[in-house]
Amino acid sequence: MLAYLLASLAGVVLVLTVGTIIFALLMLRNWMNSLRRAVDEVRKGTPGAHLPASGSAMDREIHKLLRQTEQFNLTKQIDWTPTALQEVLHGVLPGAEVLVVSNRESYIHNRSNGGIVVQRPASGLVSALEPIMRACGGTWIAHGSGSADRDTVDENDRIRVPEGAPAYALRRVWLSEDEQDGYYYGFANEGLWPLCHIVFVRPAFRIGDWRMYREINQRFADAVVAEARTEDPVVLVQDYHFALAPKMIRQRLPKATIISFWHIPWPNAETFSICPWKEEIIEGMLGSTILGFHTQFHCNNFVECVDRFVESRIDREVQAVSLAGHETKIRAYPISIEWPPSALQTVPAGEKCRAEVFAHFELAAGTKLIVGVERFDYTKGILDRMRAVAALLTRNPSWKGRLVFIQVAAPTRSKLDAYSKLQSEAEALAAQINGQYLEEQAPIRLIARHYEPTDVFKLFRAADVCVVSSLHDGMNLVAKEFVSSREDNAGVLVLSSFTGASREMSEALIVNPYDTEEMAAAFEIAMTMPVDEQVERMKLMRQQVKENNVYRWAGAILMDAARSRTRERILGLTETRGRTRSSSGAAGG
Ligand code: F6P
Repeated sequence: MLAYLLASLAGVVLVLTVGTIIFALLMLRNWMNSLRRAVDEVRKGTPGAHLPASGSAMDREIHKLLRQTEQFNLTKQIDWTPTALQEVLHGVLPGAEVLVVSNRESYIHNRSNGGIVVQRPASGLVSALEPIMRACGGTWIAHGSGSADRDTVDENDRIRVPEGAPAYALRRVWLSEDEQDGYYYGFANEGLWPLCHIVFVRPAFRIGDWRMYREINQRFADAVVAEARTEDPVVLVQDYHFALAPKMIRQRLPKATIISFWHIPWPNAETFSICPWKEEIIEGMLGSTILGFHTQFHCNNFVECVDRFVESRIDREVQAVSLAGHETKIRAYPISIEWPPSALQTVPAGEKCRAEVFAHFELAAGTKLIVGVERFDYTKGILDRMRAVAALLTRNPSWKGRLVFIQVAAPTRSKLDAYSKLQSEAEALAAQINGQYLEEQAPIRLIARHYEPTDVFKLFRAADVCVVSSLHDGMNLVAKEFVSSREDNAGVLVLSSFTGASREMSEALIVNPYDTEEMAAAFEIAMTMPVDEQVERMKLMRQQVKENNVYRWAGAILMDAARSRTRERILGLTETRGRTRSSSGAAGG
């Protein structure tokens, strides 16, 4: 009897336990489903969508995380195209006048064979900014460096570009040879460039160059003031050529929204401390409303330098610096390329590109092709990748005659010793490697000339592997251009860990360019990678670059600019009200 009772009790307990578990599971499933639906709605940005709130600690935590995701996703929810960017610009900055300032111009007119040819410069800055200006219009102020530039401008030194579909004004500023020597070659490229890249080329700081740099920054700041039709334009100051211009512009146009973007790395405080004019440079940059770098790491380095060298107030939580009553926000905006690149429109499909490139370079059928494309710059690791090719041919001689590395390097800043020396060293190294490893065909083809974008894309489509082995690089857009060209989802990217791009493109084969053997091994892995794996990696990288294209970069900057403008307007109103109240109080008293 007792046994029967105990068995019944156990049965009841079992039924109750199972029932409770089933009930709890059902409740949890319902709760999860409604949470999932709500998260989906919030993610899609459905108006009025909110999360179910039961007030539990778990709910609160989920709420907090989702709010963060929501804010983070604000720019993600937009499908970034030129039209979306235009809409954002007109929506958040209605009627704003956009002025860009950079040293390099977007179109260079050169004299050639008795005529005039237009050249698109090999410049990451230009590749990124040009599509933005085509979408938004405005005025781009830059150094007129072409031999026929003066012949193509109007009486105000302006020309509408691009030819055939004019979208914005290019205003050219003229510089004498002495001015270029001091400001561009001297202070910017023998001083700041090696200082910021830390590639063991000693920076040169000369007082004469510094004076010229200041003078030319003032000239460009004056050009901004002269071009501005409104008292509060949005001024986009580009790169290390114009560290002093933001403060100079602010002095003349206090209501301007000045957004400066530093296209190269920013070094740590220890390294930066060797610059004799560090305080002036930082103070000049702090004239900006927003100061952008490619990565958070470079933002942190900059804030560290401010902390060490300038008396100011740093708010680390919101990443802002206040100096003399003016606040500058320090932000990371990883730059990118237009998607899809307009130059791709006229580039044939992969097979045709490969056939043309193979015919042009007389490559044997079945050759594995590695390509590299950049300016002939010592920061790009051009010698290092050649050494890696040689190391691979040494460790695995079966590659002899079966692999070719084509390096296109556009001569740049050749007036400077470090650059002309690099070119001759690269030519000597290519000759030596070709002599040593020649078997039916030379393994290295060094092309020291400028390639127009369509030819670059043709090379990318023809390649098995693209190598970007920068010793240090703010972002590196070549990496992004390569993946943008691979509609076939094939090809492998070998990418230096010292590029900003490596933070976003982790599916590349990431290498330390100083480690020759590692890069040689990466070349071999890349050339023997199964197609399935190439496709898997390439698809992810293409998705990343497509979503985070240059319109998103500009959109994020413009949205932040709009927020700053609204904030400043509100603060202005509050101050005016405060003044009115105290003056009426004084009158009443
Ligand atoms: O990386 C900095 C940068 O200004 C890039 O934007 C550009 O690719 C490169 O330097 C161009 O240099 P330059 O205008 O001196 O030829």
